[in-house]
Amino acid sequence: MIQLVDSGAVRQWCEARRAEGQRIGFVPTMGALHAGHLSLMRIAAQHADALVVSIFVNPLQFGPSEDLARYPRDLPGDGAKCAEAGVALLYCPTAEQLYPPGFQTRVEVASLARGLCGERRPGHFSGVCTVVAKLLNVVGPCVAVFGAKDYQQLQVIRRMVVDLDQPVQIVSGPIVREADGVAMSSRNAHLTAAERQQAPCLHAALQQARALVAAGERDPERVLASARAAIERAPLARLDYLELRDAQTLAPLTELLPGGTLLALAVYFGATRLIDNAVL
Ligand code: PAF
Repeated sequence: MIQLVDSGAVRQWCEARRAEGQRIGFVPTMGALHAGHLSLMRIAAQHADALVVSIFVNPLQFGPSEDLARYPRDLPGDGAKCAEAGVALLYCPTAEQLYPPGFQTRVEVASLARGLCGERRPGHFSGVCTVVAKLLNVVGPCVAVFGAKDYQQLQVIRRMVVDLDQPVQIVSGPIVREADGVAMSSRNAHLTAAERQQAPCLHAALQQARALVAAGERDPERVLASARAAIERAPLARLDYLELRDAQTLAPLTELLPGGTLLALAVYFGATRLIDNAVL
C-alpha cells in the first residue's frame, strides 16, 4: 500500500492505473476506521481492481459548535487496517491542500439536503458535497461506496453525481451493527460506559417501528409514538429528531409508503450525536 498526501500525486497514480485498464474503487472516510468502513472497502474491492481509501476530517462539514476538534483520529492504526484490507492507495490530504487560501467554491444540493440532519446541521451537506466532489475529481473512480447509516448523505451524493455528470457509480453499503444493535460509528468512541449501555435504544426504536408495521399498523403517528417510547426508556438519550420520510425523495410523509418509508432518527448522549435509520 502506498500513502499519499498530495492530490497531484494521487491523480497521477490513479491515471496510471486507469491507463493500465484497471477499475478504481473508492471509499472516502474521515478515519477512525471500524468494521463498518472495512465492509465498505470489501464492497468497493468487489467492483474494482484497485482500491483507494481517503482519510480526511473535513472541517467544511462541521458547524462551529460541533465536534471537529475532538473527532477521533488514529492515522497509524487506520493505515494498518487499510493495508490489511488490501487498499492499494491511502490518500490523506491536508486541509491546506484541499482548501488553499482563496478557496471559495461550494457544492450545494437543494431540497434533499434540507430537513433531517440538514436542518439540524446547517451547511453540513454543502461541506460533504464539496469535499466529495473534490475527492471524486482527484481519484476518478468507477465506483464509490458510502454507508447506509448516513442515509441522507447517500441520497444527496447520488443526486450530486447525477447533477454534475460525474462518471461514477455510487454504491451503498448496509449498516454494520455491534452485537447489541448499535450502528458502528467513529463517534461511538465518545460515549461514556453508561451512555454506551443505553445506545441500543436507537436500534430498539427502529425495530419496534418495524415490528408494528409488519403487524399491519399503518398510522404514521402510532409508528412514531412507539419508536419515541423506545428512546424515552433510555434516560440519558435526548431525541434530536425522529421522522418518517419518503425513502427516495426524503419528502415528509403523512402516510406510510409500502416498502419506501424511511424512519430516520438522531439522538444525543451528552454532546455525542448518533444517527440511525431503517427503510420500513
Ligand atoms: O461519511 C463520511 O465519513 C464523510 O461525510 C465523508 C463522506 C467521508 C465526507 O467527508
